[in-house]
Amino acid sequence: MHNVTFLVYGCELKMKTSEKILEFLRQGGFVSGQEISNKLNISRNGVNKQIKALREKGYVIESYTNRGYRLLSEPDSISVDIIDKALTTLYIGRPTVLMEKVDSTNEELKRRARSGAAQGFTLVAEEQTFGKGRFGRSWRSPRGASIYESILLRPEISASNIPCVTLAAGLAVCKAVNGLYDCGTKIKWPNDVIIGNKKICGILTEMTAEDNAVSYAVVGIGINVNNYDFPQEIEEKATSILIETGVQHERNELIAAVAQEFEKIYNEFVLCGFGALKDEYIKNCATIGRDVSAYLSRDIVTGEAVDVEADGGLIILTEDGERVHVSTGEVTVQGIY
Ligand code: BTN
Repeated sequence: MHNVTFLVYGCELKMKTSEKILEFLRQGGFVSGQEISNKLNISRNGVNKQIKALREKGYVIESYTNRGYRLLSEPDSISVDIIDKALTTLYIGRPTVLMEKVDSTNEELKRRARSGAAQGFTLVAEEQTFGKGRFGRSWRSPRGASIYESILLRPEISASNIPCVTLAAGLAVCKAVNGLYDCGTKIKWPNDVIIGNKKICGILTEMTAEDNAVSYAVVGIGINVNNYDFPQEIEEKATSILIETGVQHERNELIAAVAQEFEKIYNEFVLCGFGALKDEYIKNCATIGRDVSAYLSRDIVTGEAVDVEADGGLIILTEDGERVHVSTGEVTVQGIY
């Protein structure tokens, strides 16, 4: 990391190169890469790297050949006070606790659940060092642009019903994002929220059960909000709300909106079962009506996704007219991913 030293009132202050670049950019208008390079005595390549790192942190910086860089917006920081004021929920998000850095919000919330945290306890982090995705994958979790949150539930349901909680959370995120930004979000069954054919949100639900009775469940939600770009290996599949709407959004209002939606949907699920949510889920589900492939143990089932049943399972109508019930797993949807 490059450092630049300044003398202020005789005190030596060390300022990071990235902060110095931000100072230039905050003056407004375009600043050329050459000018930054000259003033800070770093290479052009060094400037590019710093700009890339700033974008990763949620700064939106546009760049044009021959004009240079211009700062469009800075990352918002997550504030528990702001979230709290926006909430009218009874228990979801009560409390909402913010951690600057954590291994995984799911892991930390499981630790807190074991120490007695109550249903609704929500943990939000600015950054995860070991963010977890489904099927043992990792979830890329840089600071500043995304939402990483986990919600603790203590439902009196059997373990076999837990996949429906993931569906309920997907519906909540879909409705919260669309309600705020009207950007055509849809659900890709079972646990992704998409815009167009790319993913903006993934959900990982984990639970602990005894004799099929759930002790607690942790619903982990990752939302790409103000991400400017993605690494090459996921850029075909991943997008952010910023990329799709062209503007930066306040993460606090979205965290609060997800809590509001989730409490309503989850209450209905607990009282009446997923059957009561099914129609709304299907209305918001991009998978229905498309050709899909699903992996069932060692077999691949292909056909048209025609329904989501009251138990949350996806129904695939195969070419030979068989209706195959898929309860969980990876489904590839034609035209999406
Ligand atoms: C997936 O699509 O594979 C699920 C991704 C879930 C990511 C979220 S981010 C917050 C919570 N903490 C984690 O470690 N994972 C979930």
